[in-house]
Amino acid sequence: MAKTICIKSPGTVANLVCGFDILGMALNEPYDIMKLTLTDEPTVIIINKDNFNLPVEAERNVAGVVLLSVIEKMENKLGFEIEIEKHIKPGSGIGSSAASAAGAAVAANHLLGNIFSSEEVIQFAMNGEKLASGVKHADNIAPCIAGGISLIRSIYPLDIIAIDSPPLYVTVVHPQIEVRTSDARQILRKQVLLKDAIKQWGNIAGLVTGFLKQDYDLIGRSLEDVIIEPVRSILIPGFSEIKIKCKEAGALGGGISGSGPSIFMLSVDEKTAKATEKVMKEVYEKIGVDYYTYVTTINNKGVEII
Ligand code: HSE
Repeated sequence: MAKTICIKSPGTVANLVCGFDILGMALNEPYDIMKLTLTDEPTVIIINKDNFNLPVEAERNVAGVVLLSVIEKMENKLGFEIEIEKHIKPGSGIGSSAASAAGAAVAANHLLGNIFSSEEVIQFAMNGEKLASGVKHADNIAPCIAGGISLIRSIYPLDIIAIDSPPLYVTVVHPQIEVRTSDARQILRKQVLLKDAIKQWGNIAGLVTGFLKQDYDLIGRSLEDVIIEPVRSILIPGFSEIKIKCKEAGALGGGISGSGPSIFMLSVDEKTAKATEKVMKEVYEKIGVDYYTYVTTINNKGVEII
């Protein structure tokens, strides 16, 4: 049995605009790298290889709590040392906590000879999301582990469905402000109007059908969120302008990536994805907010051993 493993854990876009907590998509960029080693003592040692200053106490670290939950379930107790090289900035909305959580869970299971089921691996990883956002949600975790687009029909009990999609380009802009998922959840209204719910159901069904039928127009029409976006977009400078101008530049549509502040847009081809990136840059240059952009595609591999 191997004692050390290196993995690549992809960034993800949760919600996919209308599917709050139930849809997510993996990206080819950015991604984190982690090295996990089995140790004899049932403890978790964390070594940060980046400059994000994340906690090294296992109970306070997303990957750490995941590994502690793995140890708790093990019959023959062993421990882990984990080196984490994050490239997905925490608080970016591109699934930073999920990359740590899912990467740690998949790597641990692999080192242990895949003794846990895929469902148990997702459960371990969700402990990391609970630490990061206060709630267990799998819309970053599931696509991070499996790649592609995931529908989380239910988490109690777990019911996750892979959704095929046509090739798509994804342009992401990350304004350099931090939005904590827990805060972005706190501000949401606890009740929705029936008329808004009906619109949202129509969009979710339309989006999933659009992916499955490879109908780009339907995908574009369905990228609309009448429940979460009106509240959260207030936290994101330039949001409306970026959305309008990116669609004018040819993007199918898009919105807040996860809980923000990143914004993503889907495009049919690379040329449009780059034109979309240009628009995003122009808006942030104009309003004077630092930003980082990615032009990438859907990752179909998920967490990968390297
Ligand atoms: N579905 C979660 C949310 C994703 O929007 O709060 C967080 O990345």
